[in-house]
Amino acid sequence: MQRLKNGSAPYFYDITLRDGNQSLKKPWSLEEKLFIFDKIVELGIPAVEIGFPASSQMDFECCKTLCEKADKNTLVSVLARAHKGDIEKASDAIKNSKKPRIHTFITLSPFHMEHVLNKKPDEVATLAIDAVSYAKECMEKINKEVNIEFSVEHFGDCSQNIDFVIDVLKDVVQNGAKTINLPNTVERYRPKKFIETMLKVKEALPDDTIISVHNHNDLGMATATTVESYFAGALQLECCLNGLGERAGNTDFNQVAVALHNCGIKTGIDLSKIYETSLIISQMSKVKIYEKAPLIGPEALAHRSGIHQDGAIKTKEMDFGAYRPIHPDLIGRYDDEKIGFTSQSGKTAIYDIIKAQKYPITIKESIALMPYAKALAEEKGELKSDEILQLYFDRICNIKGAFELISFKQIEKGVFDLFFNFKGERKEVIGQGNGPVDACLNGLKKLGFETKLSYYKQYSLDSDDKGSSAQAMSMISMLNKNNEEIIGRAIDTSTALANVKAIFNALNQIY
Ligand code: KIV
Ligand code: ZN
Repeated sequence: MQRLKNGSAPYFYDITLRDGNQSLKKPWSLEEKLFIFDKIVELGIPAVEIGFPASSQMDFECCKTLCEKADKNTLVSVLARAHKGDIEKASDAIKNSKKPRIHTFITLSPFHMEHVLNKKPDEVATLAIDAVSYAKECMEKINKEVNIEFSVEHFGDCSQNIDFVIDVLKDVVQNGAKTINLPNTVERYRPKKFIETMLKVKEALPDDTIISVHNHNDLGMATATTVESYFAGALQLECCLNGLGERAGNTDFNQVAVALHNCGIKTGIDLSKIYETSLIISQMSKVKIYEKAPLIGPEALAHRSGIHQDGAIKTKEMDFGAYRPIHPDLIGRYDDEKIGFTSQSGKTAIYDIIKAQKYPITIKESIALMPYAKALAEEKGELKSDEILQLYFDRICNIKGAFELISFKQIEKGVFDLFFNFKGERKEVIGQGNGPVDACLNGLKKLGFETKLSYYKQYSLDSDDKGSSAQAMSMISMLNKNNEEIIGRAIDTSTALANVKAIFNALNQIY
């Protein structure tokens, strides 16, 4: 397969304001087009097809105004069918532009020539050549550098008559078209078939002809076709923001730009503007970004299976993520990878959700919470963070069992009165020691409840934004009779009570 010459950067040609616009339920007004044009330019896209002047007076005015506004660094292109009236309108619209192009087109597909145009191939060939010659004449007349793009509408259906198409294109180029655009107007087959046909054209035309692709997404492979066309030698890539465009849309700009970037190609695009621009385009087009839309969909960063959550969390800060194509920062997306808990999720999700809410938890405790969280999720579907936190309070910080604390009061320094139920039986004891933990454990020992403390830690939990006062959390770790470590954790506004509750939570797991 023929390769691109080294260093040929892709030439992005945006068609949001034309193919995207013509597919909207309510095409954009002049103000809207002006605003979107700026967004396209800010992305670093060098060429913009701004409209179809002959399609309506409003679109003519839009094209005219955008042509006046665009500076010399951005190519502005207008569409015209291959007939004089359209070309004259186009030429009128670009009169005051600094860097214009006329884009004219006609189908060369056997099916379309016969059933839609009702014309013989030779007649269509003449129309194509005449259109390009006339566009050239018009551009010269208004003193513009001749820049003509010719499109073979339905090129994707031209594999059987490709020799005829090539002959027409040679004449079209001879008559002034510098860019030959090959649209997959309706995506029916596989990317490889399109690229093989495209290569026949590329090989037959003069080297300085720019080959362009314009792929619709009827079978969902437009991105693949466009990216692979670039690597096979197509320089101009016609894309639409958010994949807008007729029917299932055109090639999605975001996906192509990111895919090329990931392949090490210098795109010249400010990728960090992609996410924000997509939200704006969605709002202005009233075309929702579907949940699973690659890169920008609300679900595009969600992980729900335990294995994926584990990998995602372990590689969260890295550019190369375990279960994502890019770091979201690359496209200016700053909402974290979403970790939801369902019946398919695992311990890492619990761990991450609790940690994200600023509560301490160990992996062992996450494992202990799993059966409760799974059972609840089986019943309710995905659990909210609050629901996981509630389970943590109920199942980790307040474990019910044989021991039930009634009160723990200081009598004097180092001396505490401990009052509790054990299997429903009242117990009271005075415990002495070096602080509440020591005193409580000594009191319990007096009643025959021998414990082996292995670890103790005190946390202060920040007061929340709802104004609750600061709370203390104690974590106590004891060994059971098999020398296994058991963790008890509790929260209270009193540090002493948090300590004792944590001891009781551990005891309830031991007994
Ligand atoms: O899809 C198509 O064939 C087109 C042409 C007008 C370029 O949009
Ligand atoms: Zn199109």
